[in-house]
Amino acid sequence: MENDQTSVHVSLPHGGGYPILIEWGCIDRLGSLLRRESIEGEVFLLSDRKVWGLYGDALEAGMEASGYRILEKLILEPGEESKSLANWMAALDRLVALEDGTARSLFLVNLGGGVIGDIGGFVAASYRRGIPCVQVPTSLLAQVDSSVGGKTGVNHPGGKNLIGAFYQPRLVVADLKTLKTLDPREVRSGLVEVVKYGLIWDAAFFAYLEENFGRVLDLEEEALRKVVRVSCEVKAAVVGRDEKEQKGLRTLLNLGHTFGHALEAATQYRQYTHGEAVAVGTLCATWISVALDMLPSAHYARILSLFERIGLPTRVSEAETDRLWEAMKRDKKFIHGRNRFVLLDEIGKARVVEDIDPTILEQALEAHLHGNTDS
Ligand code: NAD
Ligand code: GLY
Repeated sequence: MENDQTSVHVSLPHGGGYPILIEWGCIDRLGSLLRRESIEGEVFLLSDRKVWGLYGDALEAGMEASGYRILEKLILEPGEESKSLANWMAALDRLVALEDGTARSLFLVNLGGGVIGDIGGFVAASYRRGIPCVQVPTSLLAQVDSSVGGKTGVNHPGGKNLIGAFYQPRLVVADLKTLKTLDPREVRSGLVEVVKYGLIWDAAFFAYLEENFGRVLDLEEEALRKVVRVSCEVKAAVVGRDEKEQKGLRTLLNLGHTFGHALEAATQYRQYTHGEAVAVGTLCATWISVALDMLPSAHYARILSLFERIGLPTRVSEAETDRLWEAMKRDKKFIHGRNRFVLLDEIGKARVVEDIDPTILEQALEAHLHGNTDS
């Protein structure tokens, strides 16, 4: 329903915070939402070509109707390759070019998926040691995860997300209606991060997803509103206690990411979306949890069944597995060569485990090879 607003507040550990506004159909009213949050100044806008083509006119008209001036916009090519140092520099060059001797008050609006949010957040963090930033996430992954919590950054040829900063936005505005134009594969992919919150934090939410994942895939408003709200509530709770991942709690959000990141890297970020790779990684982490007697094997079967029904990949090829091992050694989560995994004690409860016997890791991968039904 248009104008029906849900909001979640992120309260930061050292004071301050920001709202996440969750609405259905509000892109054209972004200006009035910004006014209500007392965000003042002129706008530098970052988006990608696909998202800008779909929503740029509505956003621009609504901003102008509320008296905001979009001084400059940078529209990048869609895709992970845009999350680059070169594009970060291009944005900074444009910002510097706007300097005309007057003390401008500028803020950034990032309209797009996680790529735009991550690079735009880092531009905002680094220009003049920080200017305000508003995240307007348009992919499911960005609405439930990347736009919230202040992890910003770009990729470096040496690794993904290697350059970046913790920098919290002033406001997040998630327009659920924008998900209607998202490729179904991207919806399935975003759903993996939603399932993650159930697995690490909230067993009842996992059970809800087992029953209702189809309504999310069908982009039903009520189901979307629920999954985005609960996901943001869990993320806000985690970030509110461990903003900079120093206390071990935020690390839990990396469930499935150790193998997931390695799989993405091993396949040059072309074979799997982030969520698809994390789905395989989550199954491996669950398999290890069972192998270490932390989790009953019936729980593995439940998670596998949910991922299969969503339509996610659950197995990889032997060639991919070999490359994955090499890439894992370069993963930043392998601190000083020690492996570190988020594992499950039960559905709804996770913890970090270090120094797992490499033989078990290898067996976990083997159990997820195409053609191997022994899992
Ligand atoms: P993305 O930004 O590349 O978006 C995926 C695709 O969907 C793109 O082609 C984009 O143009 C398109 N798209 C986005 N919104 C659309 C819409 N409403 N309609 C039609 N098309 C739309 O990728 P993503 O999956 O959103 O995010 C992945 C990125 O997020 C990765 O770089 C990952 O590292 C990062 N990430 C960051 C965090 C964090 O905490 N900062 C967390 C998870 C992932
Ligand atoms: N997506 C993991 C985190 O924000 O910490």
